[in-house]
This record gives sequence, C-alpha cells and structure tokens, in this order.
Amino acid sequence: MFSFAPTPGQSSADLYADLVESARALTDGEPDGVANMANVAALIWQFLPDLNWAGFYRMVGDGLVLGPFVGKPACIRIALGQGVCGTAAATGQTQLVPDVHAFPGHIACDAQSRSELVVPVLRDGQVIAVIDLDSPSPARFTPDDARGIKALAAALVTCI
Ligand code: SME
Repeated sequence: MFSFAPTPGQSSADLYADLVESARALTDGEPDGVANMANVAALIWQFLPDLNWAGFYRMVGDGLVLGPFVGKPACIRIALGQGVCGTAAATGQTQLVPDVHAFPGHIACDAQSRSELVVPVLRDGQVIAVIDLDSPSPARFTPDDARGIKALAAALVTCI
C-alpha cells in the first residue's frame, strides 16, 4: 500500500519537494514508462488541489499522443504547435496560461478548464513528453507551480 500525501499548510517549495521525492520513490527501479506516468499522474492529483485534469502527452513520431492521466477523457492526438500542449512541445518551453480562453488555439477537452500549465519533459534537449495540468479556476497556476512541475519533469527523464 502506498500512502503519499502533502502535509497540510506546507509551503509550495516543500510541497513540490515532497511531490518530486514521492515520484522518485514510486518510479525507482521500475522501467515501464506507462506505469510510471500513471502513478505520477495519480500523485499530482493527490498533491495539488483545484485540478480537473492532470497527466501526460507523449511525443510519438511527429506529434503528441495522449498518455496516462486523471480527469475526463481527452483528445488523443495533438499536432506540434497546436494548442497549449503542442506549443510547449514545439518550443520546449513551459506554458503558464492564466486564462485558456485568451490562448490562441487552446484545445478545450473539458469545458470546465479555465487555466492550464504545460511543462515539457526534455531528454538530451529533445521533448519526449509534456506534463499537462488543467484547473477549473482562472489563474490557478503560479511561477512556483511551473518551477515545481519542471523539477518533477527533470526527475522523470529517465523513467518514462
Ligand atoms: N488544453 C490542451 C489540450 C489537452 S487537455 O487540456 C487535456 C491544449 O490546448 O493543448
């Protein structure tokens, strides 16, 4: 039985440090990338409040394909440069979107989503996946969240 959970009242830095440490512990020694992404999506859901979607899109060929996630069913394939995820994958840059309605080309998988954070996972300078978080609250994500999810992405490079 695994029990990974945030400590009530902890700072954002401590929360993300715990999240990354939990992800390392859960993925340690496990070579199956799908299993690892599935557990990490569940961990994100456990640790971060006010989300309506949390998961992965993987680079497959020349586009993104849906990976393990928690939330409502989502669009399966996203072209590079399309939407928030495709922009993160095409540029290799984190996309912190306070208002998804103001993001040109945003893909609405769940009409409830109001803000979004997408962080690329880079291996040897190449995007291998993106971590996508959606929230029903406007401006849910801060630069602290972006930093924390980037640290998580870095911890996953060799295990997804
Ligand atoms: N909103 C994303 C699509 C994926 S869903 O949010 C799960 C985008 O614009 O790329």
